[in-house]
Amino acid sequence: MTIPRKIIVTSALPYANGPIHIGHLVEYIQTDIWVRFQKLCGNQCLYFCADDTHGTPVMISARAAGIKPEELIERVHKEHKTVFDSFFVEFDNYYTTHSDENRQFSELFFKRLNEAGSIVKRTVEQAWCENCKMFLPDRYIRGTCPRCKAEDQYGDSCEVCGATYQTTDLLNPRCAACGSTPSRRKSEHYFFKLADFEKQLKKLIADEYTQKTVANKLDEWFKAGLKDWDISRDGPYFGFKIPGEENKFFYVWLDAPIGYMASAKNYCDTHGLDFERLWNSDEYELYHFIGKDIMYFHALFWPAMLIGAGFKTADKLFIHGFLTVNGEKMSKSRGTFIRADTWRKHLDPETLRYYYAGKLTGGIEDIDLSVDDFINRTNSNLVGKFANLASRSGPMLTKKLDSKIGRLDEGGKKLLNKLTAAKTQIVDDYENLNFASVVRTITALADEANRYVEQNQPWVTIKDDTETTRTTLTAVLNTVRVLTIYLKPILPKYAEKVEKFLNVGELKFEDVETVLENHTIGKFERLFNRIDKKQVNAMIEESKESKAPQVRTQTEPFAPECTIDDFAKIDMRIAKITKAEPVEGADKLLRLQLDLGGIEKNVFAGIAQAYKPDELVGKIVVCAANLKPRKMKFGLSEGMILAAGAGGKDIFILTADAGARPGQRVS
Ligand code: MSP
Ligand code: ZN
Repeated sequence: MTIPRKIIVTSALPYANGPIHIGHLVEYIQTDIWVRFQKLCGNQCLYFCADDTHGTPVMISARAAGIKPEELIERVHKEHKTVFDSFFVEFDNYYTTHSDENRQFSELFFKRLNEAGSIVKRTVEQAWCENCKMFLPDRYIRGTCPRCKAEDQYGDSCEVCGATYQTTDLLNPRCAACGSTPSRRKSEHYFFKLADFEKQLKKLIADEYTQKTVANKLDEWFKAGLKDWDISRDGPYFGFKIPGEENKFFYVWLDAPIGYMASAKNYCDTHGLDFERLWNSDEYELYHFIGKDIMYFHALFWPAMLIGAGFKTADKLFIHGFLTVNGEKMSKSRGTFIRADTWRKHLDPETLRYYYAGKLTGGIEDIDLSVDDFINRTNSNLVGKFANLASRSGPMLTKKLDSKIGRLDEGGKKLLNKLTAAKTQIVDDYENLNFASVVRTITALADEANRYVEQNQPWVTIKDDTETTRTTLTAVLNTVRVLTIYLKPILPKYAEKVEKFLNVGELKFEDVETVLENHTIGKFERLFNRIDKKQVNAMIEESKESKAPQVRTQTEPFAPECTIDDFAKIDMRIAKITKAEPVEGADKLLRLQLDLGGIEKNVFAGIAQAYKPDELVGKIVVCAANLKPRKMKFGLSEGMILAAGAGGKDIFILTADAGARPGQRVS
């Protein structure tokens, strides 16, 4: 009897600003299969995850939806949880990074790292949007690519020519939210001195913290030199405030991995376990599952933070590749950017689990979901081999042989021995994340069992030799049982149905060694349905976003909140345009002379493409009269006239009733 292992497992925390898609599911299914395998081997294994809730995208999405970020992340948390449940991804705790536990841990890390001298303060210059009153992350600046001149590209890279550059090199930069031109602004930031941990990190990697194939990439990073990491962001920002600061927050990537601990802590507190022992002692093994895109954070920043703050690092980082569909990146226009809930609407979630399992090897290569291959594997293996074995033996025993399993004969024992002999191999493969090999082995065993059925022809012997038939079906149903145990980490729902129909309790890996004899089985339930290409096509159709330029259905994000008192500060008055003239060197501007009842104001208005100067003279307009005068390139602007419209030719000044008296207050 081996002593059960104690294992803690995490998957990367999905961002709370979008739905789970089949790309994400590569990871959650991979991790879940491994966790279930450990549990079925009798090990104590706890699987922790959470939503990654902080950062600019969540803040902007919430603004766009006109709700508070807290409301958004709560909504998304429910959606994510529902999706995970429906794909049988079974966390022991699915928490959130926006929690007290996570705040406390984040502050603790910051304090310890600070005290240890691993954090420095430095002034940096960043893009600032005066209109949105916020610093703009690279992704929130758009402009013309300095290399290929493609318009509307991100602040850090061009999607057309692939160039990467500094935001300062972007031509005609604009704030992605409001379109105004950002300026540069200085701000003090906190930096984590990653390079201080180079030695420890190198040792960690040498001790096989990651797969060997990753070591090259890490070597490149070490060679390039470890740089200080900016761990603070200025407000407005959705995150945790940095203690002692007025308007500075922890960067989302600082508190995100700490979220693993917060989820574990929350579990410990609700289950009477000692967190220190669980997270920070050798009693428990610790593994993180992640995708290759977030390697830098998990192979360098995170272990360095842990070391610096006096926590142990994980035993291993399991890194997987990215999902491609039909050999290409997932694409919204091709309809291959498939949301998990869309999949579930059209297809059985376990077909995806089975397919991914068949593709996952434990390496970091990308894995491809080819639609034809998917249909083929589902129909010929899941339906044709596994489900078929059960459906050609179970119902016959029930209908013709009183549902009674008999005893194994020599032939049956021989067959079954072949199946049980494969256990060591299967267990090893599961342990090493080589699920593809597991699936190959099990499929070959199912072929063997199906051949046995062909040779013994129970549908023929049943006519005149019931007991021989019973012996045959006993062997077959025993193979169904063993294969189901082997498949159970991958197909938990399927296993549950088989357990019910075989009328056995919850099967575990140790049950492989025992046989089912002289036993009454239950009612057979359909296990899998064949997939028709039509179903897959319908799912892809539903996932398609038209290639045509999107009409913006989403409201542009609102500017920061202003109170009614703020609003009331603007004194709006009726004004009469007494003079209007073009401004040399500014083809959008007109210089207007306004009469506000004896008070004259000089105002510049960007309406030259919509109105000719002549047609404006004599018009009664609404004017923001108490704006602080602003010196412009062309002169002093002493107010603003109100206008609305899309811009260019489509601007409409707000004209008032001709009888209105200049200077009169507008309410
Ligand atoms: N929030 C961060 C992780 C913080 S962990 C402290 C994040 N979130 S994510 O939602 O973008 O991705 C979550 C996980 O899903 C990551 O490990 C990522 O690699 C994985 N995948 C996201 N898209 C994927 C594919 N298309 N294919 C395979 N895995 C993918 O990163
Ligand atoms: Zn802006």
